[in-house]
Amino acid sequence: MSERKAYFVGGGVGSMAAAFFLIRDAGFKGENIKIFEDLSVAGGSCDGNGSVEKGFLCRGGRMLNAPTYECLHAMYADIPSIREPGKSVAQEITDFNKVMKTHANSRVVDKQGCRLDVESMGFSHRDRMQLLALTQADEDKMGTSLISDWFSPEFFQTNFWWMWATTFAFQPWHSAAELKRYMVRFMHEFPRIQTLAGVERTPMNQYDSLVLPLQKWLEARNVAVDFGCTVEEVKVDEANQKLTAKSISYVKGGKKLSVTLNKDDLLFIQNGSMTDSYTLGSWRQPAKFDFSQQKSFKIWDDLASKYPGLGDAKPFIKNPIESVWQSFTVTMKNPALFKAFTDFQMNEPGTGALMTFKDSNWLMSIVIPYQPHFNGQDKDTQVFWGYGLFPNKVGTYVNKPMFDCTGEEIFYELCQHVRIAPELVHDVINIPCIMPYITAQFMPRVRSDRPAPKPENAVNFGFISQFVEIPRDVVFTVEYSVRAAQMAVYGLCDIKKKIPKVSRHDLNPGVLKRTVMKAYQGETGTLWQKQHKKCKCCCFMKLAAVSAAVAGVAYLVKDQI
Ligand SMILES: Cc1cc2nc3c(=O)[nH]c(=O)nc-3n(C[C@H](O)[C@H](O)[C@H](O)COP(=O)(O)OP(=O)(O)OC[C@H]3O[C@@H](n4cnc5c(N)ncnc54)[C@H](O)[C@@H]3O)c2cc1C
Ligand SMILES: *[C@@H]1O[C@H](CO)[C@@H](O)[C@H](O)[C@H]1NC(C)=O
Repeated sequence: MSERKAYFVGGGVGSMAAAFFLIRDAGFKGENIKIFEDLSVAGGSCDGNGSVEKGFLCRGGRMLNAPTYECLHAMYADIPSIREPGKSVAQEITDFNKVMKTHANSRVVDKQGCRLDVESMGFSHRDRMQLLALTQADEDKMGTSLISDWFSPEFFQTNFWWMWATTFAFQPWHSAAELKRYMVRFMHEFPRIQTLAGVERTPMNQYDSLVLPLQKWLEARNVAVDFGCTVEEVKVDEANQKLTAKSISYVKGGKKLSVTLNKDDLLFIQNGSMTDSYTLGSWRQPAKFDFSQQKSFKIWDDLASKYPGLGDAKPFIKNPIESVWQSFTVTMKNPALFKAFTDFQMNEPGTGALMTFKDSNWLMSIVIPYQPHFNGQDKDTQVFWGYGLFPNKVGTYVNKPMFDCTGEEIFYELCQHVRIAPELVHDVINIPCIMPYITAQFMPRVRSDRPAPKPENAVNFGFISQFVEIPRDVVFTVEYSVRAAQMAVYGLCDIKKKIPKVSRHDLNPGVLKRTVMKAYQGETGTLWQKQHKKCKCCCFMKLAAVSAAVAGVAYLVKDQI
């Protein structure tokens, strides 16, 4: 066992994962690991808390995906479940999803309250060709182009866009390169995007199901998290083009403190947080759109503006109005009201995934999870989560922007879309949450704007978060943070063990075939019936097959991660 110490700026799930890898794979002692966290809880953006009386809250609800969350599943295979002693967390999640299968019966609803048939993607030939062009484009040549640069306006009215955009929170002004990565990484989910059947859920909210078990594992090994500490500066020495972190200055309870790093010590920085500057409202009080207190990007920004090779924070944070959206968490002691929601959705709680109200001005969606969703939630209490992708627009039924709405007003708007009778509405709490940087990681950027988890010129520090560059993987996922953690630790400690690869489902012939069929589904008669369509399709298939083969060879030749 080594006596090296490791420090962390930020206590998100990414940092916690890195602490896990340091102990499991690099021989660090838990007591030599120290995490500085601004908030008073661990887990960062992966949150969930509250009570029956005050209402529960999760700023986000997270979908997982077994075929692509390679590092997350591998890590959680070694973390014991709290809920089911004797099982690992990974096993617990797998078993839960075998029983609670996702199959959305009402993925998209229109303004009449009708469930739309979204089996067909609604593509025109041009849409398909544009989508193909995007998925086959070379990322380095895409630069900072926007999604809207690649498509005609009609594309943004297709069933595909309603579903893909609301499942992953994409906007037309986001990074085309990131959408391309999503299309490729989740290609196996495209053919069943209308039911979201590939979505995996944790049995409870992700704080209780993912963060707590990991935190317990770390605490049992004496890893310390120092809460209420805001790191203000990291001092770095530059010599022979190598960067060495020397000290960390932080503020705790109004006091300025610092730590000096010894020669062998390591530092991990969470460079930026998607939940930075979030604000909460209540039933009577709106949340606030206020990004003036932003701090989680500061250290990165400071370092990157002084030294080369550490990327650039600015493209991600310069325009919060393009990265903001608003979520809300509803808590009720009202089985009849809850049943009205699940009846409308025609799904048992936990099986419906996302339901989107496509004609709502705020573009609202809700997720009704399996109950109970929280430790501490009793049998008479029900909880669900929702969000609006356009909170700056005036509502369809409430005459103001979502930003300015109380929890009550947001719930009223929702009830109109779901056709809930007013007399049913009582014993409800709704907590709104505005997150100015929630899609900051989707803002247009070039590859070099994000540092590697272990920057080449960094001797003893690395970055872990959503703002690092991991070839081919997709941000806005817990997987990305865990993978960044594993790469940073393995890179800095020179560990030779293999990191699970980013799987290439896009090179699987079965996936390709289903993808092409899906893209053509519903086009005046079935794909294989019409002669001339068949011909067009064959061209498309050949094109796709050739591109896949080319990509496959390129992958084998140049990519070895
Ligand atoms: C609304 C929402 C929906 C989501 N949906 C999904 C989903 O469906 N599927 C999925 O896989 N993922 C989803 N995610 C993403 C996932 O939750 C995040 O990617 C992940 O939790 C990020 O973890 P992290 O550790 O990298 O960063 P964070 O959790 O953001 O951690 C950063 C931490 O560092 C702290 N910090 C930063 N700077 C400082 C400083 N200077 N001093 C002290 N502390 C500092 C912050 O307080 C924070 O706790 C969603 C997230 C949200 C919010
Ligand atoms: C719950 O979490 C949110 C977000 O992290 C935080 O602002 C809030 O204070 C927490 N509430 C409680 C009761 O701990």
